[in-house]
Amino acid sequence: MAKLILLLLALMVAACDVCAIPSRVQRPDPRICAQLPLLPICANIAPPSPVVPANPPPPTGPSLFVFGDSFADNGNLAKDATQRVADNGLIRQWYVPYGSSANDSTPSGRFSNDKVQSDFIAAMMGFEKSPPSYASTGAKGHCHPTGMNFAAGSSGVYAVPRGAPQLSDQVATFAGLVRSGVISKAQLAADSVALIAISGNDYDRVSVAAPAGFGDVTAFIKNVTSGIAASADRLKKLGVGKVLTNNLHPVGCAPSQTRAIGYGACDGVANAGAPVHNRNLAHLVGDKEGVFVVNLHAAFSSVLGSLVSSSGSSSGSSNTRGGHHGQFQHKLTPCCESNDPSGFCGDTNGDDVNPEQLYTLCEDPERYFYWDEMNPTQAAWTAVMAYLEEDIKNFLAPAN
Ligand SMILES: *[C@@H]1O[C@H](CO)[C@@H](O)[C@H](O)[C@H]1NC(C)=O
Ligand SMILES: *[C@@H]1O[C@H](CO)[C@@H](O)[C@H](O)[C@H]1NC(C)=O
Repeated sequence: MAKLILLLLALMVAACDVCAIPSRVQRPDPRICAQLPLLPICANIAPPSPVVPANPPPPTGPSLFVFGDSFADNGNLAKDATQRVADNGLIRQWYVPYGSSANDSTPSGRFSNDKVQSDFIAAMMGFEKSPPSYASTGAKGHCHPTGMNFAAGSSGVYAVPRGAPQLSDQVATFAGLVRSGVISKAQLAADSVALIAISGNDYDRVSVAAPAGFGDVTAFIKNVTSGIAASADRLKKLGVGKVLTNNLHPVGCAPSQTRAIGYGACDGVANAGAPVHNRNLAHLVGDKEGVFVVNLHAAFSSVLGSLVSSSGSSSGSSNTRGGHHGQFQHKLTPCCESNDPSGFCGDTNGDDVNPEQLYTLCEDPERYFYWDEMNPTQAAWTAVMAYLEEDIKNFLAPAN
């Protein structure tokens, strides 16, 4: 009899891999008994139903898991009004004019006038927009069939002063949800895709905090790209089928870098770092099975054109793939600009009754590439992702 019970316990542990419930069950789980009602041991264990809520039906389609920073975040940073003007507007994305081009003009926690990169990847996979944020799903113990978005504005490979979870923390949170069964192995096995959007916040901090010699910067770039590669590896090991990882856009063209000279030209020194980062990243993940480098550098360069190449770091792609870009009359000037260089888009004097607007907003965001001091407009993302769409779709297409 003891032998039989041991055998049954072994069976149940094995069953955990199939039904994706926590493997640390102390005693037979009623859900197993529901699935295997003929196990004699279940007769004594199963409590009267309904005690355990039914698992959601197993998803059968593809799903997307998003990691990174403001290029991909869709609402993970807590909307805390007391923090509104703290940390240079870290949660400005929850307030007007963010989201001003969305259907209902409501800020959704995205760093744009509407959609961000993760929404466009999701659209390529057949979803209307990015899977819901971790904050609105995983943190509450469930996972949407289309996946989950863990990205948080201002994040990076390294710990961020503003407290957003860094990339490895986001992946660790994902791993915890896989371990506990909130994200099921069945969901991961069915064409799951991850996006890693790390867009240079690590380098922002370096230049401000420690203007190091170039040797140090090169070592730091190696560390940052190694961090991205390590996260891509871990996601694959956890069962994600395919990983998309952004390379670094021409960071010297961001309005934060060009404001001092009236948005007249990209910062060539800042831009020179991007190809170094990108060569490192390509070296680390370029040949990995199931990992694809999304060439944001080429896509941004295609739209910004000679502005990038004149700073000496062209990716050599000045073609018009993805469309002509004459619509962007303002390639370096942001649509939304704070009056004060230390302010932020959406900044006010903090008076709830009589808020004074401390920023200017353009009339037509469709004609601007940058929305705020570092994030693209929805129109820019449309152009950038059109440039990349064919390559991404080819990578995501099921092998046969
Ligand atoms: C927003 O409007 C567009 C065009 O009218 C529509 O296709 C889309 O479904 C709407 N999205 C939402 C979230 O309502
Ligand atoms: C890079 O990472 C190594 C190993 O963690 C560390 O010792 C080194 O200080 C880092 N270098 C820079 C420039 O961050």
